Amino acid sequence: MFRDCLSAGYELWLLEQENDLIGYGVLSAAGGESHLLNLCICATHQGQGHARRLLARLVDLARWHHAERIFLEVRPSNRRAEDLYLSFGFSEVGRRPNYYPARNGREEAVVMALQLVVSEQWPPV
Ligand SMILES: CC(C)(COP(=O)(O)OP(=O)(O)OC[C@H]1O[C@@H](n2cnc3c(N)ncnc32)[C@H](O)[C@@H]1OP(=O)(O)O)[C@@H](O)C(=O)NCCC(=O)NCCS
Repeated sequence: MFRDCLSAGYELWLLEQENDLIGYGVLSAAGGESHLLNLCICATHQGQGHARRLLARLVDLARWHHAERIFLEVRPSNRRAEDLYLSFGFSEVGRRPNYYPARNGREEAVVMALQLVVSEQWPPV
């Protein structure tokens, strides 16, 4: 999957501490839109602000690619990630049913977006 992301030209940023890989983020950007595909911090390094810093970097990169907004999907059961995105200014714009595999079947995804430039067509009606 990472190889595919790199060959597709996606932004794939690693967070290292003393030569250890402690997190990564993946972002695609094209056609004025950007998608945060993954953001992950090693369990033993969580709660220290690493995700917030990495997310800030990825948002900067989306701006650099002239994206007008960033989308992402998150599990509704992932309160920690959802709280991070909400506190960063993302808001819920929809739901995708049966999106993630889950222990008892499948789980829907919360679709969130962060608007980077002012637009009359945003939010969608
Ligand atoms: C979600 C995740 C990326 C957060 O990483 P992190 O480095 O621990 O996050 P940070 O320390 O930067 O904290 C940022 C915000 O996350 C939320 N958060 C972090 N730890 C939390 C906890 N224990 N409980 C609730 N919220 C928490 C808070 O909103 C926090 O903001 P604050 O620092 O102002 O309180 C990390 O838990 C993770 O990698 N989870 C597994 C992968 C995943 O679910 N990725 C998201 C996929 S959409």
